Amino acid sequence: MTLRNNLISGLIKEEEFAEIPEDLVLMAHDVYKIYQSGEIETVALRGLSFQIFQGEIVAVVGPSGSGKTTLVNLLGGTLRPSAGQVYWSNIKQDIAKLDERTITNARRGFIGFVFQVDNLLHHMTAKQNVELSARIAGFPKTWREQRSEELLESVGLRSRMNHIPAKLSGGERQRVAIASALMNNPALILADEPTGDLDLINAEEILDLFKKLNEDYGTAFLIVTHSQLIASKARRTLELRDGIISGTHDSGVHLKQLERTRVLEVDNQDRLPLPENILREIGHPRRFQVEVDDGRIILTPSTIENAVAVEVKLVTCRICGKLVTSNRVTCPACGTAL
Ligand SMILES: Nc1ncnc2c1ncn2[C@@H]1O[C@H](COP(=O)(O)OP(=O)(O)O)[C@@H](O)[C@H]1O
Ligand SMILES: [Mg+2]
Repeated sequence: MTLRNNLISGLIKEEEFAEIPEDLVLMAHDVYKIYQSGEIETVALRGLSFQIFQGEIVAVVGPSGSGKTTLVNLLGGTLRPSAGQVYWSNIKQDIAKLDERTITNARRGFIGFVFQVDNLLHHMTAKQNVELSARIAGFPKTWREQRSEELLESVGLRSRMNHIPAKLSGGERQRVAIASALMNNPALILADEPTGDLDLINAEEILDLFKKLNEDYGTAFLIVTHSQLIASKARRTLELRDGIISGTHDSGVHLKQLERTRVLEVDNQDRLPLPENILREIGHPRRFQVEVDDGRIILTPSTIENAVAVEVKLVTCRICGKLVTSNRVTCPACGTAL
């Protein structure tokens, strides 16, 4: 209770929503999620802010337990934040305080989910599965049939649409799930590790499909992924660590060399997450002295006993851009003499 109260900060006022850009689809503002099981509290997200704009493809990467699934569920309104706001542009409101029913209605036609485990109904054909959400929403039969066939065609499954899931391959089932997510023409698809258990070829196929849908329908995508292929094609990649955004990347990210393209962002609460590899490299100091030198911020590890700083500074390698401690002679990443 007090934790929750302490965490609430910098809330957006209603009148400020009016100034939100036209092409914003969705926004999380300082969201926290604390899971409570018995006595144990797990802080899964710690004040995370994020925006997605029309037609963007954003990848989310991060180790297991970093909060990726929690973020997807908060954005999609299937989970409530413990603090903070989730703004949906279709209703121009923070959904965090709306009731379940209002959220469900608002989600229809705005957000489509593609889950890691496929949640197709096994007694229904591919086509019936795709149509289901529109049937629940009460769309007329002829419209539903036409749209589901069109979508199944666009995912390359026209000839398989009357098969039940058991008669389809893993990749085909995944494509049916994507077609279902698109049935009500959402502005945004939230996909949680869509290629989690599929092979590389399927990942490529699914990626092509996402690109096509993105171009044809202007759908925005937020994709949690471990796939280099998917991340490398995203316009923007967010790195999550311990419930915060620990780095952002523009296009061309390499998941095995995240430090190469990582850009650190100061968040709404003026926090700057220091990369773990850099902290490790300089022996995990907990305290720093801070100086500004010609537009650069220099952090110098400092200890309580020895407040006179240990002379370790961070410099940027002029060739590869890696942050390197100034006591090194050569850059450990590219070998350039420093
Ligand atoms: N329902 C839950 N109850 C308690 N803790 C949870 C629950 N779901 C997730 N967590 C915890 O929250 C943290 C983030 O989980 P999650 O969002 O699933 O991460 P990821 O998808 O990146 O693996 C983890 O420490 C996880 O154990
Ligand atoms: Mg997950």
